[in-house]
Amino acid sequence: MFFEMEIRRLGRTMGAEVTRVDLNHLGAPAFAQIRDAFHVHKVIAIRDQQLTPAGQIAFSRRFGALEDQLNAHYTIDGCPEVLVLSNDVRDGKPVGLIDGGDYWHSDSSHREYPSMATILFAVKNPLTGGDTEFADMVAAYEALPEPMKGRIAHLNGIHAVSKLKNKRVQVSPRRPDGADFYERQKAIPDQIWPLVRTHPVTGQKALYLSPRFTIGIEGVSAAEADQLLDSLIAHQVRDEFIYRHQWRDGDLVMWDNRCVIHRATGGYSYPDIRTMHRTVIAGDKPFR
Ligand code: SIN
Repeated sequence: MFFEMEIRRLGRTMGAEVTRVDLNHLGAPAFAQIRDAFHVHKVIAIRDQQLTPAGQIAFSRRFGALEDQLNAHYTIDGCPEVLVLSNDVRDGKPVGLIDGGDYWHSDSSHREYPSMATILFAVKNPLTGGDTEFADMVAAYEALPEPMKGRIAHLNGIHAVSKLKNKRVQVSPRRPDGADFYERQKAIPDQIWPLVRTHPVTGQKALYLSPRFTIGIEGVSAAEADQLLDSLIAHQVRDEFIYRHQWRDGDLVMWDNRCVIHRATGGYSYPDIRTMHRTVIAGDKPFR
């Protein structure tokens, strides 16, 4: 039997759920509908999926090349593109990354080619907590006062991957290898991106910074940059820009890193297990 896919708005300014579709059997017209929904809604939750890691890779690759994973030791055997996020432990060892997404960020803004989109598949949801929050950076940009838009129009943010370079974040004490991991990351070069970027498909302007990765502003004194970043960060996560996703079993959520920031909200603890499979689609260099 053939069912029409359904798309229903979830959040105030963004976010939609997609139902009546099976990602294991997705023809070109249905894929085009999903891609369009992704551009319109910025965050889409595709319900009721049963995906193997290979199936998730196959779906993700339809959007473009996949990123390699910095936390390679938490990927799935035979599927190095799939990172496991989890608080589960086997034989005394963590099975996945435990502190993934603990501060607001856009994935891979610290890379030479920042990510276009991220895909997270719920393998095991906890009984309590585990929500993910998303903030709409187009709505946040549009709501800025005109003088602020003018002030930041030609400024560039400095994005660093190591938490040890960033006074707004801390290494999670829950992560056993954290200190060494972030010490090694200090050698990775910072990236410089416009504070306001234009989306290559929709043409919309979006704020492009985050407390997790943006550590300064090019050519601006540390004191002035701190003040400006603090004010933009407080603005970008105002309630009216946020959609909070409460995960259901079988959810696959995909978001657009070019115009959305996100964070994991926690609120669960072992032995209440949360396990997600994550793939990241590579993107292009941001432009004004
Ligand atoms: C992430 O930041 O990629 C993970 C978000 C989450 O686990 O909710």
